Amino acid sequence: MTTVDLPLLPLGRGADQLSERGVECPGDLPSASDPDLVARAEAAKEKLGDKVFVLGHHYQRDEVIQFADVTGDSFKLARDAAARPAAEYIVFCGVHFMAESADILTGPQQQVILPDMAAGCSMADMARIAQVEKAWDALAAAGVQDLVVPVTYMNSSAAIKAFCGRNGGVVCTSSNAEVALDWAFQQKGVDTKVLFLPDQHLGRNTAVLKLGYSLDDCVVWNPHKPDGGLTPEELAKARVILWKGHCSVHGRFTVDVIDDLRAKVPDLNVLVHPECQHEVVLNADFVGSTEYIINTIEAAPPGSSWAIGTELNLVQRLANAHPDKNIMFLDRNVCYCSTMNRIDLPHFVWAMESLVDGVVVNRIEVDPKTEAEALVALQRMLDLPGKTHRD
Ligand code: 13P
Ligand code: SF4
Repeated sequence: MTTVDLPLLPLGRGADQLSERGVECPGDLPSASDPDLVARAEAAKEKLGDKVFVLGHHYQRDEVIQFADVTGDSFKLARDAAARPAAEYIVFCGVHFMAESADILTGPQQQVILPDMAAGCSMADMARIAQVEKAWDALAAAGVQDLVVPVTYMNSSAAIKAFCGRNGGVVCTSSNAEVALDWAFQQKGVDTKVLFLPDQHLGRNTAVLKLGYSLDDCVVWNPHKPDGGLTPEELAKARVILWKGHCSVHGRFTVDVIDDLRAKVPDLNVLVHPECQHEVVLNADFVGSTEYIINTIEAAPPGSSWAIGTELNLVQRLANAHPDKNIMFLDRNVCYCSTMNRIDLPHFVWAMESLVDGVVVNRIEVDPKTEAEALVALQRMLDLPGKTHRD
């Protein structure tokens, strides 16, 4: 992997991105230095057989992804979980909101396990249900709520997906945001507005670059300001109300680094995730979900050069898998998603061995009412017309 002036920092679990859920690992977590961890994981998987189905998000560490039955982006994993009704246990190597979605989409006889409860998502945590309900009331007070369709990115709590379900909205992922937003804009006639939660960048990039809205059509709702910091006139004029949330990993990529790399690497292709800032996406050559990023690199000719703006575990894996291509990270610093990295081999082994012993640890269970309402919004996503996934 080429690292242009990239100092390698130690792999971090930055407290800034940790989303502690107040759940300690109750059992004896194996030591990270145990030389038998791989053999223990293999043995547990073998013993559990078809009872267990292991899902691995593309941002997971290599040490964990090697045990995944399927890998994918959040959309693909949601579909894969739903398509495995026979597996008693779904071990989700990803983050909390993904495991919640898997629980919602799987049957009541199936149990979803997140090996470390601290594997949250700082972006998802930027929209709390109480804040969203308050914003919804404020939209009513401003006289615009009847025109608003809520759309939430998969990276949100089950409670927010349920909010979208009961208010005529939909869930989307980075694979299908364009189709989902298009659907949403058709729900309330020509004056429809969309409230996009919680990632302002995915919302803005999709509305402006895919659906042709202008930046002036977009306003940002700041949950920490009264009435979102917006006047009734601004809300009346807006077509897209973007929640003030962002990804602390993808938000780091800058145009400055793109320019720097383009000056150093001839014929460089810049490939980024749509959670990046608008200016970064504008200056990139290709933009798409993690699944799209993988497919693009696989289809790229040998010898081509790529700077990739997404999570570092994935970029490193792509660089290792494609030594014939010049693949580099689009940041001067190492930046893993620290919460994705919470799922390490000791936690995986602990969760799997507990299952072998008949003990389900770290079960993710969404309450029935939230589940029913969230399922409405998730099902609307899965039913979206046309091409909803680039695989
Ligand atoms: P994908 O929808 O591409 O899997 O992205 C999930 C995510 O957390 C990106 O930061
Ligand atoms: Fe959340 Fe960003 Fe990590 Fe994805 S990369 S899980 S959006 S913090």
